[in-house]
Amino acid sequence: MHEGLKAMARIPVAGPWITQKEIDAVADAARNGWYANANSYGERFERAFAGYVGTRFAVSLPSCTSALHLALLALRVGPGDEVVVPDVTWIATSAPVSYVGATPVFADIDRRSWCITAESLRHVVTPRTRAVIVVDLYSNMPDMDPIAELARERGIAVIEDAAEAVGSEHRGRRAGSFGDASAFSFHGSKTLTTGEGGMLLTNREEISERALFLRNHAASTERMFWNTEVGFKYRMSALQAALGLAQLERVEELVRKKRQILEWYREELGGIAGLTLNQEVEGTRSAAWMTTVVLDPSFGMEKDELIRLLGERHRFPPFLPPPELPPGLREVRGGPAGPRAEPGRLRDLPLRREPAERAPALEGGRGGGRRGPQVDPEALTRRMEGKGSRTG
Ligand SMILES: Cc1ncc(COP(=O)(O)O)c(C=O)c1O
Repeated sequence: MHEGLKAMARIPVAGPWITQKEIDAVADAARNGWYANANSYGERFERAFAGYVGTRFAVSLPSCTSALHLALLALRVGPGDEVVVPDVTWIATSAPVSYVGATPVFADIDRRSWCITAESLRHVVTPRTRAVIVVDLYSNMPDMDPIAELARERGIAVIEDAAEAVGSEHRGRRAGSFGDASAFSFHGSKTLTTGEGGMLLTNREEISERALFLRNHAASTERMFWNTEVGFKYRMSALQAALGLAQLERVEELVRKKRQILEWYREELGGIAGLTLNQEVEGTRSAAWMTTVVLDPSFGMEKDELIRLLGERHRFPPFLPPPELPPGLREVRGGPAGPRAEPGRLRDLPLRREPAERAPALEGGRGGGRRGPQVDPEALTRRMEGKGSRTG
């Protein structure tokens, strides 16, 4: 790599965007968010976030993982049940399925949306399927109507994992407003952050009530120190809620910036053969949480090679892996073969795990041909640095 480039500062993956507004909000919570005020920040954040997404109820929680856990519990999913999850997602989507003793079953993702489809869901549904967790991967969204229709036909609950999709829209509705319940993450890597944090959203009052109850050790609201079953300690602090409220007031600006970053990559990389960036499938407006690239063999360079070349200056995480690879995911899946309804037919689907099997560079995958790269990593780095200095 060029010496001049080496001397320049490392460019990290985009982190949170915190202004004085957020700092003032957290300071206010630190001063006042106690005693009678302890819950008021959380309740304000819940009301405001439900209003933004367009659902009736919101329950603030310490993570999206806990939101998915409580959603499954509130839907009474348990041992003997199967829950369909996408073949490619973060382990946090499927781990809660194993927390409740149910079995995750993995469905293929579509090569354009990177989300499951009604067709791939249909292939894995069995009489034991109780729920499907659709994931708005990298802010993309699945074609929801046919999935909802199939789920209705087969009596399957739908949970939307919108961890990566705050601000995305599908056919005029915001991410997180679909299904029986949805879950958001406010982890430090997310567009809207509370440091760590999450939210369960729903239009069904009984799900909201059950989640509120379970998040506080299943404590009675009428009798102090009286727990009627074993619950969980899944509460968000007032300090986190204050940060979330302040971030939410800036959400349009936060999402605009993410879309602008993706647009910069599109301007610079859009014309390169064999390289595909996040696509906006018809009907969906992506909030572009993380710019992601998939390499086709025609790109002429292995993913790992490109990550290594660019990695001198940038951090490029790989695309999320398929479930047979990481040992932890294999365990969640229940062994190397995993429970699949019709493995033979699944293999026939052309869209099986396309992004992870090809070669995403900015976000990972596996490599293709050997004809040499069509993009000069140093020139690319210089161009992105020029853009970066304009971010303000
Ligand atoms: C798709 C998806 N689901 C769930 C989660 C879990 O979020 P949290 O870390 O808040 O539990 C994440 C977090 O990165 C995610 O990307």
